[in-house]
Amino acid sequence: MLTVEMNDRLTQVGPGTPMGDLLRRYWFPIAATKELEESPTKSIRLLGEDLTLYKDRSGTIGLLESACAHRRVNLLYGIPEEHGLRCPYHGWMYDETGQCLEMPAEAPDSTFPERVKLLSYPVQQLAGLIFAYMGPAPAPLVPNWDLFAHENVVRDIGLSVVPCNWLQIMENSLDPVHVEWLHQYYTNFVLQRMGTIDESDNFWRDRADVNKHVKTGFDVFEHGIVKRRVLEGDDEENANWRVGHPILFPNILRSGNGNTLQIRVPIDDTHTLYVYYNTHPVAEGDPAQTDEEIPYYIVPLPGTDERGRPSWSLLDHNAGQDNMAWLSQGPISQRWRETLGESDKGLIMFRRLLQEQMRIVDDGGDPMNVIRDPAKNVNIVTPFEAMETGVDTRQRGRRLREGAISTGNSGKYSPVNRERARKAGIPVSDIPENAPNLAQAGTTL
Ligand code: FES
Ligand SMILES: [Fe+2]
Repeated sequence: MLTVEMNDRLTQVGPGTPMGDLLRRYWFPIAATKELEESPTKSIRLLGEDLTLYKDRSGTIGLLESACAHRRVNLLYGIPEEHGLRCPYHGWMYDETGQCLEMPAEAPDSTFPERVKLLSYPVQQLAGLIFAYMGPAPAPLVPNWDLFAHENVVRDIGLSVVPCNWLQIMENSLDPVHVEWLHQYYTNFVLQRMGTIDESDNFWRDRADVNKHVKTGFDVFEHGIVKRRVLEGDDEENANWRVGHPILFPNILRSGNGNTLQIRVPIDDTHTLYVYYNTHPVAEGDPAQTDEEIPYYIVPLPGTDERGRPSWSLLDHNAGQDNMAWLSQGPISQRWRETLGESDKGLIMFRRLLQEQMRIVDDGGDPMNVIRDPAKNVNIVTPFEAMETGVDTRQRGRRLREGAISTGNSGKYSPVNRERARKAGIPVSDIPENAPNLAQAGTTL
């Protein structure tokens, strides 16, 4: 249990807050590269600040505070020029450093533009994502995690805006037991509600085909926390315990069968941009992908229907189930009212690590995973149990619907998965196309 004050300290991300200062030491993905190919400006909200991302006609990408310095029209509606973004209201133009270059209605020899500069933040592209950095100079390197560096893969990127604080999402990743309950017993219950499996089918704990947790463990390592588990019938020699898989500090889970990074980007105290970064082994006939071509898709959020009943078809897969758990804790979980047990030791470790890293920043140091040496950033290999076996043994008992494509993480919405299912003749008609969610409904990121 935390005090109200400690809860605030861990969840407030705005400028000048201790957590905001820590998070400003990291690069965050804010868009798929393809998004700016489709539309040259995008509204961004990151760590509580309102910004406009744009790509000008020469290909330079900039991230500026969203309000024009003149009379504060939103630059989301700006016009990209050869070099810079022009405000649509009176034509003031800015470059990617925020410097005003032109004020068409002022005298041609006026020095006024030189004295006007917007806030700007550096951006970088890596592996089909656009990253932003809002911290002090010099900026560190964008970490080149192994999934970004992999070759011979086809990628796609799921996005959603989750209306809750980033920390309760991260804490879910330090909580292995929920995989047994939320993603197995509850999946079976949901499939019963959907009529996919028989009502009389027993979904409870005596089923033979679920993974029961015997033991969980956690260790801090160079890049975060490794999460380990022993499942019933296994021992500590199993890769699930010996290798485990990582939470990359401060905001990434490596998951699935090791081919997905789930990246949680704090938009503000009560919203999180969720990025599912997926790599699929290349299959025959897959076209080569440039970063600009990597498709992205919107992951719908679960909720209730008009009569207040759970929307079951949005709860039959990991992403929907996890989203349900995070959302239903409220915009910011009231940790002073929780009751933690032994099985919560992983998230307690994560909270301690956050506090330790906040102190390091406070003392002027670089926190964990601030990487400045290019030699250490070629391909950062992170442990994953399935590396040894090629199989995610945690999933051995999952009950997939007969003939359905994988619903792990947000896989049921993945365009790469869907195309492969279509080619294999697997029906995808029961899988809804991308449903609108906050990311499509105009909410700023
Ligand atoms: S408000 Fe932007 S130019 Fe006037
Ligand atoms: Fe989960």
